[in-house]
Amino acid sequence: MKHHTITLAVLPLFLLAGCASAPDSAQLVDEARNTAGGLIQTLGGELKTAMTAGGPAQAIGVCKERAPKIAAEAAQRTGMQIKRVSPKNRNPKGVPDAWETEAQASLEQRLAAGEKPETLDTHSVVNTPDGKVFRYAKALVMQPMCTNCHGAEDKLSPDVKARLTAEYPDDKAIGYTPGMIRGVLSIKKSL
Ligand code: HEC
Repeated sequence: MKHHTITLAVLPLFLLAGCASAPDSAQLVDEARNTAGGLIQTLGGELKTAMTAGGPAQAIGVCKERAPKIAAEAAQRTGMQIKRVSPKNRNPKGVPDAWETEAQASLEQRLAAGEKPETLDTHSVVNTPDGKVFRYAKALVMQPMCTNCHGAEDKLSPDVKARLTAEYPDDKAIGYTPGMIRGVLSIKKSL
């Protein structure tokens, strides 16, 4: 009889714990996906407009000035930290951390296994000394347009090359072909 009472008392706690965590993380994933999708659309739109108006050398400014601004605006709105990183980074601050490196490697495997590039993302909740952190990464996949600035050296126009050399002396972000994962959009939120 005693045993029975304990079981009944403990059971609702487990149920509560299960209910409390599951919708939360689904909501975070939704929020991260919406934020990432919005950012990619905004940036892609501005990039295309700038490329049509002034060519790729001019459009470098969009990637340099606008990408961080658009990310900062979304960060303010959502309380999430947002950045773009790559193992072959152009922006010196775009170096991936351990979780991001692992995330990109797993997304590359899933892409190779036939998953659709548009929806390729991953997420988890990690324990850190400062508490739990929600992590999310979305693959940024090379399209033909991207080769103007990230393609093989012979795909870059002389003026793009000149601007990249001037502004990013340690640039590693060339040599990509369409379909490759150029980097990830990384989102973090402390829980
Ligand atoms: C007009 C030139 C240009 C085009 C086109 C372009 N990029 Fe970039 N990209 C840049 C520049 C410049 C940076 C560095 C921005 C900065 O200073 O933060 C960059 C940075 C990045 C980064 C951040 C990581 C890093 O290396 O610093 C990713 C990821 C990225 N680009 C992916 C793409 C993808 C995917 C496309 C096509 C959809 C694309 N880019 C098209 C110029 C370009």
